[in-house]
Amino acid sequence: MFDIAIDKNQPVAEFYADLTSSASAVVNGEPDAIANMANVAALIWQYMPDLNWAGFYRVVDGELVLGPFQGKVACIRIAIGSGVCGTAAASGLTQRVADVDAFPGHIACDADSRSELVVPILKDGVVIAVLDLDSPLPDRFGPADEAGMVKLIGAIAKSLG
Ligand code: SME
Repeated sequence: MFDIAIDKNQPVAEFYADLTSSASAVVNGEPDAIANMANVAALIWQYMPDLNWAGFYRVVDGELVLGPFQGKVACIRIAIGSGVCGTAAASGLTQRVADVDAFPGHIACDADSRSELVVPILKDGVVIAVLDLDSPLPDRFGPADEAGMVKLIGAIAKSLG
């Protein structure tokens, strides 16, 4: 089994370095993308404070389809270009949203969500999925969270699709 212990209270750069090495260890040697997404969602959920949703949407037949996650039951299908996740998928750019109510077209799967971070996952230059993190706190995700999560996803992207 995995022996994971991450200090949630350490400086943010160190926190993401630890989270990234744990995520890399969890997916190491496992070819099944769904299993890897499930464990990475669980890892993030366990160690990142102040989240109400953490998980993946996969690109399937030209739309986003709900993948492994932790949190409340969520929207199953999102059109590419719609909401925060669809915008990340369409643009290939990370979306860091301080106030979801101010984001045009935000899809409120969980009414508790106040801020959101969505990181696209690319394979051979094509978006194959997105990681979606939601928080009940406004402006939960800062530039260091964005940089840390983009690095984490970059380190494990090959294991997610
Ligand atoms: N809020 C997202 C939808 C997914 S849920 O938050 C889980 C969006 O606008 O794309």
